[in-house]
Amino acid sequence: MQAVGTVQSKPIPGALAATPWLEAGKTGKLLLIDAHEINRRLLKGMLRSAGNYEFLEAASGAAALRILEQNSIDLIIVDLMLPDMFGPDLCRRVKASPCNSLLPILIITNTQGVEHEVLGIEAGADEYLVKPLHPSVLRARVRALLRNKSAIDSLDQAETILFALAQAVEARDSYTAEHCQRLATYSVALGVALGLSRPELVALYRGGFLHDIGKVSIPDSILHGQQHLTPEEWRIMQQHTIRGEEICRPMKSLAPVLPIIRSHHEKWDGSGYPDGLAGENIPLLARIMQIVDIFDALITERTYKPAFSLEKATTVLEEEVAKGWRDPELVSLFISLLNRNMLESTASLIDPDWPELSTMLRSLQNMHAQIEGIGHPVIETVPG
Ligand SMILES: [Fe+2]
Repeated sequence: MQAVGTVQSKPIPGALAATPWLEAGKTGKLLLIDAHEINRRLLKGMLRSAGNYEFLEAASGAAALRILEQNSIDLIIVDLMLPDMFGPDLCRRVKASPCNSLLPILIITNTQGVEHEVLGIEAGADEYLVKPLHPSVLRARVRALLRNKSAIDSLDQAETILFALAQAVEARDSYTAEHCQRLATYSVALGVALGLSRPELVALYRGGFLHDIGKVSIPDSILHGQQHLTPEEWRIMQQHTIRGEEICRPMKSLAPVLPIIRSHHEKWDGSGYPDGLAGENIPLLARIMQIVDIFDALITERTYKPAFSLEKATTVLEEEVAKGWRDPELVSLFISLLNRNMLESTASLIDPDWPELSTMLRSLQNMHAQIEGIGHPVIETVPG
């Protein structure tokens, strides 16, 4: 079976032109998957009057998967019984891809029976309609699914912008490349060793990239002159924790990351900033991020010091515990992971295919590709 080419819907006399102002749910690229051309034509006929849709068509599951590899689709409408695979199996394969995990799928079938509906929904389908289709019901379902997709895309874009901002900060402030990636990896390793929940591990992973996003508001003269800051400049530098929290607060999905951003410079004895929290009043995820941040600063080369050996970095961490600055139990656990070479292997238990991470990882991939294209400016500084 071959994929059928793109069919652009024709303007309907009297209908709204395709403009950016068209209501969400009334535009979108739909992939129709059905073995029978007549069925696909019927679907297009019912939907054309409902919005300004672009249609892509496939007569088999395999053809549909090929189309998905090359196109950004807003909604899939699929027949339950395809010649080469069962509709729910196609659903599962589509949703297993991080890029398409939130892509809405509507299954249509001739087959009555709640068991198929349950199979479809469990495989990730968002809606299930039994023929004969009522055009107004089909149109309403399609509009609702596309409205949801539009809302998800908006969130996706907002999150992408924040991670782009965080990468811009790393490019401007970073001592070495991949600092944020290492923080994400090390903090997740410590989180796994502590038996933290999946949402907490996801927060740590994202926090590795976002914890210093507030530095975007710090002037270069302060950001790059941290060894010789005046008291007023130091006060401004410390504001990066609060500014970072303010930048990320509007995104509800980032709520679990906010305590990391705000509190990663607190100290166990209460002498840190911005709130002077002490002991277990410092959020656990922030204490984790702080330890791995310091560790990474120690083992990487800076303008003012060479890269420390693991032994020397461990000694410095223990000295900071003795001074009362760091959580003794966390530092001890981190050092034991380090001594057993378990940082990378423990962190690998986090699954990059988790939907919560898919937007972020996609954004990072895109940005890295672009940065490689234009060159990556690396500026050496002291950690803030
Ligand atoms: Fe910081």
